Amino acid sequence: MIRKFYKSILALAVVVSIAFSHATAQDSTSTAAAAPAGGGDVAKGEELFKNNCAQCHAVTAEVVVGPGLAGLEERRDYAWIKKWINNPMGVIASGDKYANDLYTKFNKTQMTAFGAFGDNEVKAILAYVKSAGAAPAAAAAPAGGAAPAAATETGGGKFINVILVSLLVIMGLVLVALLGILQLLNRLSGAESGEASLSFGEKLQANLKNIAANKTVRSAIVWAFILLATKATFDGMYGIGVHQGYAPKQPISFSHKLHAGEMKINCAYCHTGVYKGKQSGIPSANICMNCHNAIKRESPEIQKIYAAIENNKPIEWVRVHNLPDLAYFNHAQHTNVGGLECKNCHGEIEKMEVVQQRSSLTMGWCIDCHRKTEVNGKDNGYYTKLMEAHNAVSKGAMKVQDNGGLECAKCHY
Ligand code: HEC
Ligand code: HEC
Ligand code: HEC
Ligand code: HEC
Ligand code: HEC
Ligand code: HEC
Repeated sequence: MIRKFYKSILALAVVVSIAFSHATAQDSTSTAAAAPAGGGDVAKGEELFKNNCAQCHAVTAEVVVGPGLAGLEERRDYAWIKKWINNPMGVIASGDKYANDLYTKFNKTQMTAFGAFGDNEVKAILAYVKSAGAAPAAAAAPAGGAAPAAATETGGGKFINVILVSLLVIMGLVLVALLGILQLLNRLSGAESGEASLSFGEKLQANLKNIAANKTVRSAIVWAFILLATKATFDGMYGIGVHQGYAPKQPISFSHKLHAGEMKINCAYCHTGVYKGKQSGIPSANICMNCHNAIKRESPEIQKIYAAIENNKPIEWVRVHNLPDLAYFNHAQHTNVGGLECKNCHGEIEKMEVVQQRSSLTMGWCIDCHRKTEVNGKDNGYYTKLMEAHNAVSKGAMKVQDNGGLECAKCHY
């Protein structure tokens, strides 16, 4: 009777655990497939344009800092546009007549280089410029579909850990209880058949044999193994795509320790987008030339910079940090609005000879910080009202999560 009862509890626990791990696994795969489809190229282009280009360009023919981009694709072919966006000063330095005329016309205003933009980004921007220029009043497509209600879900790994650990604890308790009962039964039957005269050691041996022969105990052990194996598999799966510690060799042995550390060059001198755009950006060779046209010209490493400019080929830096396309991250939001420092996320770059990825860049990592970090309301009139409203209904300080920092659509297109 009692054994049957324990057996069914055990079976139930196992079924529940498997159902749970299954459900979470399916959840993430189905939304993963749905997320990128939510916002099309145009929506992505709009995002990129507003964050990186809008301060200098209009989608109409109107001149802001630079020329209006309406009709751009009729003026220039795609290859030229991509080259230009990646490295405008490189195109100008190459002697391209159109570029030089334009540069002169705009009083030699230097356009920011977006060396990190690939075909996807450039095409998205062009798609947006075309659609917005053609229909200036067209409403922007909202990003993403309806978000599932599971706003409390963190990086799934933690969730599963909690379930597994509690299951293991329950099973441990069940085992202990079973042992107690077995002992009791043994003692009763032992007393009847006169085994009371056995020594303690003999009794223990008999008990252990009993336990080993007990089916429930054996199946519990088997299930414990299965659960541990499942957990290991999940951990492995969540580790895929995580590149913490990644520090690839770069084509030129550029040292942050020397330039940002010892020489104290401001990060934004080279990463020009970091306070005003989505992307920090990687500096074009021209920024290096501001100094290296005079410094260490004879060094073979510096000669590589010269070669890049002469051949009009951007230096092919190997990308270190890279979120999957389904996630949206904006630097200005964090450095400028949020007031965070680079080292909050990148570690002490100014001490690195070779850049290394210090944070995991997983969803759990983003969410964890949004749970813990207070919104930076200093000198921000927009937040004053929000904070008053928050303080009226809640005692704690306003965290990023209280401002929508856990909403799926904020980070997923
Ligand atoms: C800091 C201001 C600034 C930013 C930011 C900027 N541009 Fe420019 N852009 C210019 C200026 C100025 C020119 C004119 C050429 C020159 O003087 O360098 C120009 C020229 C261009 C041209 C050539 C236009 C033509 O008529 O042929 C294209 C294309 C262009 N920019 C695209 C972009 C895109 C795309 C972005 C955003 C990813 C961007 N620019 C961001 C200032 C900027
Ligand atoms: C003199 C120019 C210069 C300065 C100053 C500079 N960087 Fe860089 N940074 C680069 C170049 C070039 C690369 C690409 C090569 C590399 O990864 O080392 C880079 C790469 C990076 C990367 C990795 C980019 C990727 O591919 O994911 C990070 C992060 C970074 N820098 C952060 C910083 C921080 C933080 C500072 C200030 C403490 C800083 N940088 C100062 C030029 C500079
Ligand atoms: C603000 C000025 C400045 C800028 C901008 C700058 N550097 Fe430097 N760089 C220096 C100085 C100064 C040294 C040290 C020279 C020495 O050792 O005497 C140096 C040294 C180097 C060295 C080591 C050369 C050797 O053989 O010892 C490399 C490589 C280098 N820089 C690459 C770059 C690259 C790539 C960029 C652009 C992303 C860049 N630097 C931008 C000032 C600058
Ligand atoms: C809140 C976290 C956070 C802060 C703060 C932060 N970064 Fe980043 N950084 C990231 C993430 C995440 C990526 C990867 C972005 C991607 O792949 O789209 C990244 C990428 C980069 C890159 C690679 C090129 C690019 O723009 O994607 C550079 C360079 C960089 N950061 C420099 C900086 C500098 C300089 C600062 C400080 C002024 C800084 N970051 C502050 C999280 C941060
Ligand atoms: C070190 C802490 C930290 C990390 C790590 C971090 N964030 Fe943030 N994030 C913030 C802060 C602080 C703000 C609030 C900025 C403000 O005042 O609007 C914010 C705001 C945001 C917003 C705007 C939310 C809103 O309510 O409008 C988005 C989107 C966002 N973060 C995405 C990400 C993504 C994606 C990652 C991971 C790749 C990430 N963040 C990692 C601290 C962080
Ligand atoms: C603060 C930003 C942020 C929020 C809020 C957020 N995500 Fe994510 N999410 C990310 C980042 C960054 C990644 C990519 C991380 C990686 O590859 O490990 C990601 C990855 C994913 C993935 C891919 C699975 C995987 O592990 O690679 C799914 C599915 C997902 N998120 C669903 C959601 C859902 C559903 C919500 C709302 C409950 C949500 N996300 C809220 C930042 C966020």
